[in-house]
Amino acid sequence: MRTIYAQLGDAYRVYAPGRQSHTWVFNHPDDVRRILISNHKNYAKGVGFDRIKILLGNGIIVSEGEFWKRQRRMLQPTFHRRVLAQFDTLIARANDRLLAEWDRKCEAGEPVDVTADMSTMTLEIILGAIFGDDLAAMHAETGENPFAVLTEESERDLRFAYSFHKLRALIGRFVARRRAAGGKPAGDGPDYVSMMLSAKDKETGTGMTDKEVVDEITTMVIAGHETTASALNWTWFLLGEHPDVEARLHAEIDADPEVAVPSLQHVEELPYSNMVIREAMRLYPPVWVISRKTIEADQLGGFTVPPGTDVFFSPYFVHRHPDFWSDAEKFIPDRFERFEEDRPKLTYLPFSAGAHHCIGETLAIFEMLVHLNRFARRFSLRRVDSDPVSFEALINLRATRPFIMRLSRRTRNQP
Ligand code: HEM
Repeated sequence: MRTIYAQLGDAYRVYAPGRQSHTWVFNHPDDVRRILISNHKNYAKGVGFDRIKILLGNGIIVSEGEFWKRQRRMLQPTFHRRVLAQFDTLIARANDRLLAEWDRKCEAGEPVDVTADMSTMTLEIILGAIFGDDLAAMHAETGENPFAVLTEESERDLRFAYSFHKLRALIGRFVARRRAAGGKPAGDGPDYVSMMLSAKDKETGTGMTDKEVVDEITTMVIAGHETTASALNWTWFLLGEHPDVEARLHAEIDADPEVAVPSLQHVEELPYSNMVIREAMRLYPPVWVISRKTIEADQLGGFTVPPGTDVFFSPYFVHRHPDFWSDAEKFIPDRFERFEEDRPKLTYLPFSAGAHHCIGETLAIFEMLVHLNRFARRFSLRRVDSDPVSFEALINLRATRPFIMRLSRRTRNQP
């Protein structure tokens, strides 16, 4: 796509032999706005969603129309800041666990596998948010970590689908059991199983069936885990390559007294940390391409796109568009300083936009900021090699090989 983009620019079509049809690709923010916002009713979910459906059933990432609207209406309040703020202890604990491991490895002079560790930590957080204390019961019942397949298997193939189906069955048993026991949270704080079991649609007064709850849970596990891990993975990579940016991040963190359990508000108020994360997701948006299908014909990029056409747009290319970003290939967090006021809409969309925009955006940002705050306070990371990085642009934008990085312990700069 990079090669074609360099030749053809914002709008082009390519023949997809597998589907025996053309896929149209648009990377100008005006076209993205038409697809996601001004004419969004004309677009259904596109290529790839049928495969995701095999895993996730009818969860909100794949569902459409009235059913999607109803599910989103019920789920939206469960992602309110007031709810997310209560996951502070869960997030801090998952970080503390990894911190202990990195402390040990740092002492022993061992490098860390950042890619694997980000994956494990973000999985622990999302599972804790979903199941609360039931997670320990699931481990006990199966005698292992039943979710390990999500971090150990990087392929999303048939074998994965088989393991994932076994997991769905386990989740189904726990959901049924929880409902039978009255649906209360399995712990002191909120958890998504209980929130979903008690959610009622304002318009119809109905709640979710067990199957619907399982679909939404598996959707959250998949949508909320690898994406956040990928964003953190790229952030560490970029910080390792840019000591100047790293030094500014350290200065901000060092001037901010450490708290055991950072709150959402606390980390949101650290401007440079926020800018670092936004800029990392600009260069390496975890969801690098988004697909839709036209219902009726539409005008995009000066062309008439026929009905039933596969349409792609790519946050990766929009985020590097030369008309909207100067020095687009460079890592410059400062460009986000006056971001909200200055930037034309839809030139930055790591979480997409419009009706289907990411429901987990604030949770993801919360997790990433706490992690950075905790770890950049203690460690500086450098890759053990300087091999060029190549992509594996699957559903998420991954590096072909994991980032193995060496830790050095920092001493705090006095503000
Ligand atoms: C850095 C982390 C994340 C990124 C970059 C990201 C990105 C995105 C994007 C681009 C979409 C739109 C997909 C489309 O329209 O086809 C989306 C949707 C979604 N995301 Fe995220 N996401 C992240 C984290 C999360 C988390 C933590 C959760 C859940 C806890 C989550 C749950 C969802 C769900 C359920 C949808 C479907 C929303 C709908 O269609 O109504 N995401 N995400």
